[in-house]
Amino acid sequence: VLAEEDDVKTYDLVLIGFGVVNRALARLIIEEPDRFRSLGFELRVTAIADLAMGSTISPTGIDLAAAMALPRGLTFEEIGGSSAARTEDVIRSAKADIAVEATFTNGVTGEPAASHVRWALDAGMHVVTTNKGPIALHGAELRARASADRCFLFEGSVLSGTPLLGLVRDTLAGTQITAVRGVLNGTSNFVLERMEAGERLEQSVAEAQARGYAEADPSADLNGSDVRLKVTILANELMNAGLTPDQVTTTGIESISASDIIAAARDRRRWKLIGEVHREVDGTVTASVQPVALDTDDPLIGISGATNAVSVTTDLLGPVTITGPGAGATETAFALLADIITIHSQSKDLSRA
Ligand SMILES: NC(=O)c1ccc[n+]([C@@H]2O[C@H](COP(=O)([O-])OP(=O)(O)OC[C@H]3O[C@@H](n4cnc5c(N)ncnc54)[C@H](OP(=O)(O)O)[C@@H]3O)[C@@H](O)[C@H]2O)c1
Repeated sequence: VLAEEDDVKTYDLVLIGFGVVNRALARLIIEEPDRFRSLGFELRVTAIADLAMGSTISPTGIDLAAAMALPRGLTFEEIGGSSAARTEDVIRSAKADIAVEATFTNGVTGEPAASHVRWALDAGMHVVTTNKGPIALHGAELRARASADRCFLFEGSVLSGTPLLGLVRDTLAGTQITAVRGVLNGTSNFVLERMEAGERLEQSVAEAQARGYAEADPSADLNGSDVRLKVTILANELMNAGLTPDQVTTTGIESISASDIIAAARDRRRWKLIGEVHREVDGTVTASVQPVALDTDDPLIGISGATNAVSVTTDLLGPVTITGPGAGATETAFALLADIITIHSQSKDLSRA
């Protein structure tokens, strides 16, 4: 059902980063305006800042199709923008309603993404991001920076578009979560599966890279540091733990040998890289990332490839497991859409109050 014409609100967006995820959102905006209108809003991109492509600003809306059509190597100068992006200036001059942050994170500092989020919140925008670094490393500070009527949302930072954070925030709000356990890294999944089929670790990683699963530098996937950031987010956002990533005991999958895999397979067990958070009886929260040989009756044993899953243990419902894509362009853009829908419904609530 399309919303009444008068009810359709237009949100101006500044896209920070114009890579896989923000291009997938741009494609949805170009190709599916009715999807948004039926939700009660239109999305108009008024600014883009990107490292390689530079920046472009247009208060009346950027020609997204022209921006998407620019061949690799060219910059926004070709469509009237600039070949350089001082991202801070672009954010300030964009005067957008929502900043959509989808750049890159340094796993130790959270930069440059953390600064992008700060600048946008300080400029009075809502911020949505798919970037785990700012939340894992600076979540409390950034949340405090958002003014009372602005949202800072990051559904895509842990499970891509699979709606874990929103599910817990909204639908499971009345339960206490005592533990969280998940398979949160598609590359390590793939590599462990190939090793089960008899390949060596190096061979499996090369195959994951050839298929586009693994980064050129796969170390964050293999040494557990990607999952460590995700586990930090889960501990803090779902269990209010106040952990930093260095408090998450972390072991990657590099230590798993062919003989470990064969020994587990003999008992029909399978190795997975498991991220886990647990509240002890005294209230303290511990978190870890480590390879675990799962038993056949474990709900996470069948999670494979780019599919991820998280099982949350709740006081009133027992364990609840959600499974779905942990990566992908459109899937992750969907997380941005989910966050924008939350902004839209909260704005409606505020305007009614
Ligand atoms: N793709 C997925 O499936 C997925 C899933 C969940 C979460 N995420 C997260 O979402 C974020 C974006 O992912 P992606 O796949 O879209 O990455 P991507 O394709 O590498 O895009 C990132 C874009 O940000 C640009 N950028 C880097 N530093 C910048 C800066 N300082 N100012 C402005 N732009 C900057 C990059 O420019 P250059 O190309 O010039 O460096 C690139 O165009 C990442 O944090 C990723 O971890 C991705």
